[in-house]
Amino acid sequence: MLVKYLAPAIVAIGAASAQSASTCTVSGGTTTIHSQADATGLAKCKTIKGSVVVTKEVAGDFQLSGPQIITGDLKIENNPNINSVGSDTLEQIGGEFRLVETTQLNAVNMLKLNSVSKLTWQSIGNVPDMGMTQLNKVDEITISDSHLRNIDAINVTSIKSMNLDNNQFITKYEPAIKEITGDLTIQANGLDMEVGFPNLIWAMNMAISDVSKISFPSLQVVNGSARFDNNKFDSFSFPNLTETKTGDISFVGNENMQNLTFPKLTQVGGGLLVANNTELEEINGFPALQTVVGAIKLRGNFTEVKFPKLQSVRGAFDLSSTNDVTNDCKALAKMAPKTQGGNGEIEGTFDCQSNNEEANQDTSGKTGSGQGVTGGSSGSGSDKKDSGAAGLSVNAGLFLAAAGVLAQLLL
Ligand SMILES: *[C@@H]1O[C@H](CO)[C@@H](O)[C@H](O)[C@H]1NC(C)=O
Ligand SMILES: *[C@@H]1O[C@H](CO)[C@@H](O)[C@H](O)[C@H]1NC(C)=O
Ligand SMILES: *[C@@H]1O[C@H](CO)[C@@H](O)[C@H](O)[C@H]1NC(C)=O
Ligand SMILES: *[C@@H]1O[C@H](CO)[C@@H](O)[C@H](O)[C@H]1NC(C)=O
Ligand SMILES: *[C@@H]1O[C@H](CO)[C@@H](O)[C@H](O)[C@H]1NC(C)=O
Ligand SMILES: *[C@@H]1O[C@H](CO)[C@@H](O)[C@H](O)[C@H]1NC(C)=O
Repeated sequence: MLVKYLAPAIVAIGAASAQSASTCTVSGGTTTIHSQADATGLAKCKTIKGSVVVTKEVAGDFQLSGPQIITGDLKIENNPNINSVGSDTLEQIGGEFRLVETTQLNAVNMLKLNSVSKLTWQSIGNVPDMGMTQLNKVDEITISDSHLRNIDAINVTSIKSMNLDNNQFITKYEPAIKEITGDLTIQANGLDMEVGFPNLIWAMNMAISDVSKISFPSLQVVNGSARFDNNKFDSFSFPNLTETKTGDISFVGNENMQNLTFPKLTQVGGGLLVANNTELEEINGFPALQTVVGAIKLRGNFTEVKFPKLQSVRGAFDLSSTNDVTNDCKALAKMAPKTQGGNGEIEGTFDCQSNNEEANQDTSGKTGSGQGVTGGSSGSGSDKKDSGAAGLSVNAGLFLAAAGVLAQLLL
């Protein structure tokens, strides 16, 4: 077995030995490991150039000791027989660390591993913790369907993307991350999960669901969009957010939310959607909001709706409440399009409705006049009239999927 599967590697070791005796290069770029013996055969390779794939024939406790660096991926996938994965030497995985459908796995022990380009762990059995001391560099993280208790070993200040979903034992996450350059998705984790990003300054896109507490005290800019659906928090604040550059802000179905406050927000680069948050009675938490590049759509049990500084809405304004907001509608109507008798600060259709029992039934991103809430221009503040597709493509597909109807952009 060993000879058969490692023959190419051994040849390559010979070839590479002029440079470095401990750099093992494999022709074809992938070392396939079918047994513990195959892995033991790599003990002399300090650096493995290429990827390592562990097949489903590997069972029980698997140890990959010796190598410090794998320049490519380390993949263990669809393996129902492996119980643990360990290495007391491995420090770096240049590509992806992929553990997928390893349903009998109950431990990862890689205390020295500190750098991985992409970490994909999905359905990894009963692994209780990450088995690392400090993961100081990781660009992309997906952790799904795990029994991890925490992911505190991840200690980075910048990350490209992070997707945490269906991890029922993760109940708290407060990383020191300062910037998220791609998508942040958190949903369906532990009941009452508490999420805090105390140091986050900017993020591209965020979609957060099913959390009971949330805190982003220092977030200043969302470059794309921010969506919060079906959460359990009773109040929400972005105390330091000044703008979303190109995307929507959306709150749908947060059944306990009583307060929504954005004290410094001046611009929403897309649309603003607030719907079916039935405990939210007052929309008065936008004291500085001046510009909404898309539409505003509000559906709920509102008794008060005030936007004191609002002066430009390029899309529609579409409000419907189960309660009486007649006076606020009168005040807001002054900004309606000229064709509706207003001063034109709202460019799309103006609709404002009180005492509509059905107000909460409509949570789509589509406004009464058929427009989507998303803004057309990609943050440039220009008045492009038909840049719908271009504007939308700014938002990641994931976020669009969640708000499919936003594609109906007819500015
Ligand atoms: C995270 O890493 C920084 C250095 O990069 C270190 O100072 C800090 O103590 C680490 N945090 C934790 C919780 O280990
Ligand atoms: C809020 O943003 C300002 C810059 O606009 C920054 O100076 C301040 O430190 C931020 N506050 C927090 C709590 O991060
Ligand atoms: C997002 O906005 C921040 C703050 O303005 C900026 O520093 C950062 O470069 C932007 N990121 C992207 C990807 O545009
Ligand atoms: C909401 O705000 C009001 C006043 O601004 C405050 O009295 C109340 O405690 C807040 N509710 C929550 C759940 O934070
Ligand atoms: C919201 O309004 C609906 C329709 O009037 C009503 O059935 C529901 O009880 C209200 N919810 C709250 C929390 O006030
Ligand atoms: C509104 O939210 C409630 C939970 O508060 C949910 O049961 C209902 O299905 C939601 N309605 C819509 C139309 O999304």
